[in-house]
Amino acid sequence: MKLFLVVSLFCLGALVAAYDIPELDYHERVGIPRAHALRQAELAADFDGSRIISGSPAALGAYPYMAGQIMTLTDGRESIGGGTLISNTRVLTAAHNLFDGRQMIRHVTIVLGSVRIFSGGTRITSNRMELHGNYNVNTLENDIAIVTINWVNYSNTIRNIGLASGSNTYAGAWAWAIGFGKTRDASAASPDLMHVRVQVISNDVCRGTFGANFVVASTLCISGATGNICTGDSGGPLVADNLLIGVTSYGTGVCEARRPSGFARVSSFNSWIRARM
Ligand SMILES: *[C@@H]1O[C@H](CO)[C@@H](O)[C@H](O)[C@H]1NC(C)=O
Repeated sequence: MKLFLVVSLFCLGALVAAYDIPELDYHERVGIPRAHALRQAELAADFDGSRIISGSPAALGAYPYMAGQIMTLTDGRESIGGGTLISNTRVLTAAHNLFDGRQMIRHVTIVLGSVRIFSGGTRITSNRMELHGNYNVNTLENDIAIVTINWVNYSNTIRNIGLASGSNTYAGAWAWAIGFGKTRDASAASPDLMHVRVQVISNDVCRGTFGANFVVASTLCISGATGNICTGDSGGPLVADNLLIGVTSYGTGVCEARRPSGFARVSSFNSWIRARM
């Protein structure tokens, strides 16, 4: 009886405390401070060589489908995130970049063909966006959206990427995550586009970190052991075998802890996306 009680309490404690809850309220907490820090860094050109969490700067043209996002909120403030060019007129991103439960953005400037978020490349502003109809702001289920932009021609530095399809879970596969997000949990901003090589894990393993409410069939996770995405990378691409397999969605809030992160699983949304291209 005593043993039973102890075990029960432990299990209850484990249920309450074992899972990392993904951080919500993106713009207020993350995107706005991030945009401010990046602008300061780029204006001051004070990049000090600090590394992304086990990653490195990306060369111009290495990820021609990378779409930086500078988002203007309804109150006029700026926030930043990422997206992926999937056709001449469509950018795939995270729904929480556009609406995080409190703020809907007014418009977004898509940055193509540049490894700097606030300078260079081709910049296209749009207010045409469609969030997934079943996007859940509390669990980040269906955290996916499409921004329609004016036609952009492909070049050496601007090109679409194909979408993952079928039943491959990619568990165990190596992938690249790309973005303008923070390079350290507590460092000065880097203005450069960064990339990091990461390994996909099974959803069962990922549920051990975030629980079954957050990790659903249309979630894809990486281990975080070799590096990670961080704040400001939301909406950006996760790529394996030159196909888009994930859209950056959430992490534990401590990027350097080498813990898993969650993405929208592109193969799960393949037909939803294609119907809008
Ligand atoms: C795209 O390329 C075509 C053919 O060269 C050209 O006519 C058109 O103006 C270009 N569009 C843009 C937006 O640059």
